Amino acid sequence: MQRLPIWAAAVFLSVINLACVKPDGAAQTISGKELFRACDACHGKNGEGKVDVAAPAIAGLPAWYVESQLVKFRTGVRGGHPDDIEGLRMRPMSRTLMNEGEVKRIAEYVSTLPKHKPAATIAGGDAAKGKDAYVVCQACHGDKGQGNEALKAPPIHAQADWYLVSQLKKFKAGVRGANPNDTTGLQMRPMSLTLADEQAMKNVVAHVATLQP
Ligand code: HEC
Ligand code: HEC
Repeated sequence: MQRLPIWAAAVFLSVINLACVKPDGAAQTISGKELFRACDACHGKNGEGKVDVAAPAIAGLPAWYVESQLVKFRTGVRGGHPDDIEGLRMRPMSRTLMNEGEVKRIAEYVSTLPKHKPAATIAGGDAAKGKDAYVVCQACHGDKGQGNEALKAPPIHAQADWYLVSQLKKFKAGVRGANPNDTTGLQMRPMSLTLADEQAMKNVVAHVATLQP
């Protein structure tokens, strides 16, 4: 019997390889840690965030929240508004994840990264006034800013001050949380309207900075 030419062996092997492709199209399982390489340029090696590219700290956020936000970015429910400059930068990044499995694995990985509260960058917030305003917030975000999964309210105690203010402005302006499909954003939006102006936002964020669950 004639020996098979080398190319035939190559075709055979690639057919075997194709047969290993899962129904959702993922050729192999890429771990959350490996997937995170697509994120660290902006969010930092340890998910600590980078103010110069306006990327928030994501380390230690619960997996359910990270997953929900990635799904929103992927579907344009968040980061789809033409005035959402930072969201528009994050959106294509969410789309580097190929499928639901990758979204879940990266969310799990991000949730295992240790939290580091970023240094304060905003001056002039009155934490005492902010404490009064926070009474409204604590129903969902918790008295220590620890978040509440049942209400889909994320922890905010370890987040950067500049990011918290930026998101409050976005909610208030309807740049985030106004999409009719953004059910949890629609709950947060009216809460941002309880803060009269940027000073009120700085005050509440100055209070949040004092919280330690
Ligand atoms: C090009 C820079 C860039 C890259 C790369 C990037 N992001 Fe982002 N990401 C951002 C910016 C900017 C925001 C803030 C958007 C806003 O202001 O609403 C953000 C927001 C997020 C949020 C929302 C956090 C919150 O508290 O609501 C999550 C979660 C997130 N990114 C995860 C990821 C993951 C996972 C990856 C890797 C697949 C990634 N990002 C890659 C820039 C980036
Ligand atoms: C009715 C419940 C509820 C109340 C009250 C509430 N929030 Fe929220 N908040 C949410 C939910 C739900 C989200 C997540 C929205 C999403 O999924 O995009 C959120 C998100 C946020 C975010 C964005 C966090 C991030 O990582 O991007 C900030 C900042 C925030 N809230 C601050 C506040 C402040 C300050 C108050 C009080 C003035 C407040 N919230 C009151 C439910 C609430």
